[in-house]
Amino acid sequence: MSRQPHTLSNQPERAFLVGVERKGSRSLWTVHDSLEELAQLARTAGLDVVGSTYQRLDHPNPATYIGKGKVEEVKAAVAALGAQTVIFDDELSPAQQRNLERALGEDVKVLDRTALILDIFAQHARTREGQLQVELAQYEYRLPRLTRMWTHLARQAGGRAGGATGGVGLRGPGETQLEVDRREIRRRIAHLKRELEEVRTHREQYRRKRRQAGLPVVSLVGYTNAGKSTLLNALARADVVAEDKLFATLDPTTRRVRLPEGREILLTDTVGFIQKLPPDLVAAFRATLEEIHEATLLIHVVDISHPMAEAQMEAVERILEELGVSHKPVIVAWNKVDRVDDPAAVREQAARYADVVVLSALTGEGLDDLLARIEHVLRARLVPVEVELPYTAGNLLSLIHAQGTVESEQYTGGGTRVHAAVPPWLFPQLEPYLVRRRTTQRK
Ligand code: GTP
Repeated sequence: MSRQPHTLSNQPERAFLVGVERKGSRSLWTVHDSLEELAQLARTAGLDVVGSTYQRLDHPNPATYIGKGKVEEVKAAVAALGAQTVIFDDELSPAQQRNLERALGEDVKVLDRTALILDIFAQHARTREGQLQVELAQYEYRLPRLTRMWTHLARQAGGRAGGATGGVGLRGPGETQLEVDRREIRRRIAHLKRELEEVRTHREQYRRKRRQAGLPVVSLVGYTNAGKSTLLNALARADVVAEDKLFATLDPTTRRVRLPEGREILLTDTVGFIQKLPPDLVAAFRATLEEIHEATLLIHVVDISHPMAEAQMEAVERILEELGVSHKPVIVAWNKVDRVDDPAAVREQAARYADVVVLSALTGEGLDDLLARIEHVLRARLVPVEVELPYTAGNLLSLIHAQGTVESEQYTGGGTRVHAAVPPWLFPQLEPYLVRRRTTQRK
């Protein structure tokens, strides 16, 4: 996807990064790792990262995030390096934002990690719902922070065809953003919420249909850039965008995939996760996240070639917990094995875990293994039943055949009597025809 770089002229905007290392923190992320990730986010947004610094503190300073002396140091570095933007590695409060803008001076823009993530989200949103969600999240983030930093992002959004950030009232060159008052933003937020409700009603109808089709939903989840879209492509030969950029996927994308024994599943791609993703932002992406709630099985895609793979896995697990879906069965897919130095060692390590599959979405290695594993997990969840279906319920009989395992089938005067094991999601549809729910498998 072509991206519009953040530019003032033809040169990419120069950005300086600032982090805080928390004393006594037990996080797997060092401040260096986090700043490296912030740099990648900045580059994804089209900025040129010219330097970075950090300060060790008990807590970020409530007034200026870093201490007063450090602010002066940053100011000097920014001047020496000719940076136009300073990006802070955590979400700044509106007060910190204002104080930093004042302290760093007129010519320097102050951004934070959340603003950067929102900007990237905006550029990657594809469906109408995705665009509405980002636009809403951006306005809500902006409301208490109506300051100069938004002239920066609004200018980008205004110039972007179909971009999600440029609401009518916020388009236009640079400084006009300052003239937009809070009332206008509140009006826009209310309007977006109404529009989203409408889109959601449609989506619910679509889901209902999907449920009737009786196909189990399997969701790909994982850290941003882990390879979810590539894996979906590889498994479904679907034309989903896969790019070496963070958050290439924002909207849920669903494909039908056939498993080795002929059963079909709906495989869905979801938004990539990232550490320090503010809970409000997670909430904003309800649509993609609802897909995860619908899922019978999750596939946690991990970039095993990444030096921070373990910390990324932990961040994903924490978000899954926050979303209340950590009880769902999970297959962990160690992806990009083609890129690791010692694939044999990785395979050996993976063999110690029952739920890990080693693969490469790029070369296709291990994909059959993954599909077989999906089949296995879905099969293990089958519930034994005995039903008598009227001849008019032929569709249900086909579903039992397609999704379950039929042990015996008998034609009676009233219909077809079937002994089978079926997936739990089919159970509600079969309930009216139940002869009895069998507690033991027949010999
Ligand atoms: P988000 O949209 O950010 O959540 O990313 P994603 O998880 O959907 O990742 P995507 O599929 O866009 O892949 C990210 C990058 O990794 C792309 O450049 C892919 O070509 C690359 N990639 C994906 N799988 C593999 C793999 O198995 N091996 C190698 N070498 N590269 C891979």
